[in-house]
Amino acid sequence: MTDRSDLEARLDGPDRIAPPDEFVQQANVTDPNIYHEFEQNWPEVWERAADLLDWDSEWDDVLVAEDAPFYEWFVGGELNASYNCVDRHVENGRKNQAALKWEGKLSETRTYTYQDLYREVNEFAAALRELGVEEGDIVTLYMPVVPELPIAMLACARIGAPHSVVFAGLSGKALGTRIERSASEFLVTCDGYYRRGNAFNLKSKADDALLKVDHDVTSVVVDRLGDALPHVVDGDSRDYHDLLAEHAGAVVEPVARDAEDLLFLMYTSGTTGEPKGVEHATGGYLAQVAWTAQSVLDLTPEDTYWCSADIGWITGHSYIVYGPLALGTTTMLYEGSPDYPDRDRIWEIVERNAVDVFYTAPTAIRAFMKWGAEYPERHDLSSLRLLGTVGEPINPRAWKWYYEHVGGGECPIVDTWWQTETGGMMVTTLPGVDDMKPGSAGPPLPGIDTEVVDAAGAPVEDDAAGYLSITRPWPGMVRTLHGDDERFIEEYWTHPDEAPTSDQSDGGWRYDAGDGAMIDEDGYVTVLGRIDDVLSVDGHRLGTMEVESSIVDVEGVAEAAVVVGAGAGGSDVFAYVSTESGRTGDQDLREQIVGNVERDVGEFAAPARIVFTTELPKTRSGKIMRRLLESIARGEPLGDTSALRNPEIVGELKEAARED
Ligand code: WTA
Repeated sequence: MTDRSDLEARLDGPDRIAPPDEFVQQANVTDPNIYHEFEQNWPEVWERAADLLDWDSEWDDVLVAEDAPFYEWFVGGELNASYNCVDRHVENGRKNQAALKWEGKLSETRTYTYQDLYREVNEFAAALRELGVEEGDIVTLYMPVVPELPIAMLACARIGAPHSVVFAGLSGKALGTRIERSASEFLVTCDGYYRRGNAFNLKSKADDALLKVDHDVTSVVVDRLGDALPHVVDGDSRDYHDLLAEHAGAVVEPVARDAEDLLFLMYTSGTTGEPKGVEHATGGYLAQVAWTAQSVLDLTPEDTYWCSADIGWITGHSYIVYGPLALGTTTMLYEGSPDYPDRDRIWEIVERNAVDVFYTAPTAIRAFMKWGAEYPERHDLSSLRLLGTVGEPINPRAWKWYYEHVGGGECPIVDTWWQTETGGMMVTTLPGVDDMKPGSAGPPLPGIDTEVVDAAGAPVEDDAAGYLSITRPWPGMVRTLHGDDERFIEEYWTHPDEAPTSDQSDGGWRYDAGDGAMIDEDGYVTVLGRIDDVLSVDGHRLGTMEVESSIVDVEGVAEAAVVVGAGAGGSDVFAYVSTESGRTGDQDLREQIVGNVERDVGEFAAPARIVFTTELPKTRSGKIMRRLLESIARGEPLGDTSALRNPEIVGELKEAARED
């Protein structure tokens, strides 16, 4: 542990913290020249990332921009993601090393060596084939964080069947929409999972979903709950473990996939109620996540690494499954919540498993901070070498708390900005190279170019707020939105003619990230948050429209607006609701609202608080002033309300929020 006064001096100094020497001495990337090298030799320099992988055939071109913004990477190359994440580590003499370490909700543990992983991935790949899955077929996976989820992902990748993982906290209805949209004919799900120690039926949610799907779906059910819930395998579904037994010892040759072939589809929320099917290609995606797992998370095969996200979201795909496994690391899977059975659960797991690198979301860190330093202090966290955050801006106070109470002042923190659409990390410090500035994510990674622009697309000055954009393509980028090339261009891209300052050499298109940001004189990007109506709830991305349209479906509700406020264990959804009668809602109405949101979107999105009001605060142009509602939900000062058409409502809202 670093001397306290030394630590305080470092934290109190100018808000710039150098990476601890001990870390730098062992880091994977330590040469500051790397930025220059990427600049000089772009895009060919990205071959470094691709070289972390084993290819069945070499690519002809690193980047093809002919059809921009439909960029293509490592064109002509062929590889298999499952081979890269499993087989080659077995072949390289590390078959007995742990690949997955699972910590279940009821404190169960399971470890899979690379050999175990190899066996089960092969057996399940053989089973999928037997069920009729062919190369190119989309397989939907709807499961909590159990080892069978990454195994199913890798089995799909092995036979060239793109997966579409749907977060288990999403409703059956949301699952049905995703199955329908992707025309997916195969589903792998679980009988259920535990919520706060209680068995919860997932299969019935999946059954509801399938009732609304027009085509036939073959499903496989993993028995997660054993006797806690009668295991339902009806006529149309097969039992996962029976299938494994039938295919015991099977070996399935990994299919050579074109670098541009679809590896997976991931639905994410946008500004409308329609989920967007983000497509990721095999080669570029895997190269970028492997490269960033190595250079930013500093992973080596010897590490035990833990990312506490859910595999059902992009963070889990890239930095629980594909990135760490491509590098041959031991990756932890955690099914539970951070405060069950107690508030030291996370630290107990870190200590027991001697975790080297830990990656989580700011909302979790703020909850840890609220619970108090005594919980991490109960445990020996000296195995930790590096900490990371992702998902939303981290405020300097939470950053410093994490640095001091979890990292003991000896672990750099990487504040990584990226998105479902970027596939991998984009903006963050390189922990063995760059100083950290709490609250600012850092410079764009080598090879990545960002710009903050105004509404007209012109770059703003240093330290001025604007829209975050990316001005050059990158390997892990979204290739398109499933079945909707037009929406892909519309949602994300600005044509070079409309943004003439951009570099034209690679097609010149500009990617609009949808976040507000500022860049300082050192090139560090401070991300301010979404500028559209997308929220982050405990690290899960959620479109306000999806929740609001579900609330206004309840009879008697006139209008609704949802925001994220501080909750007991992180962030909570707050709903402001006006009723048709203008009266306040009663308990019955509250329950209907919560029920509707659980049914339509999922339980994680259900409002923890509902504030009834006669009217929602609106600007003169009729737009709901969400910022104001957010401040009320967080108990923060309200700022300027002069743009409101109905300023008189503010007092009522504050009053109602207090009463609730
Ligand atoms: C936000 C998660 C500030 C941002 C990987 C982005 C962040 C959205 C950061 C993407 C960060 C992610 N600092 N904001 N370090 N990381 N965000 O698609 O608003 O679930 O646009 O991907 O999360 O969320 P998504």
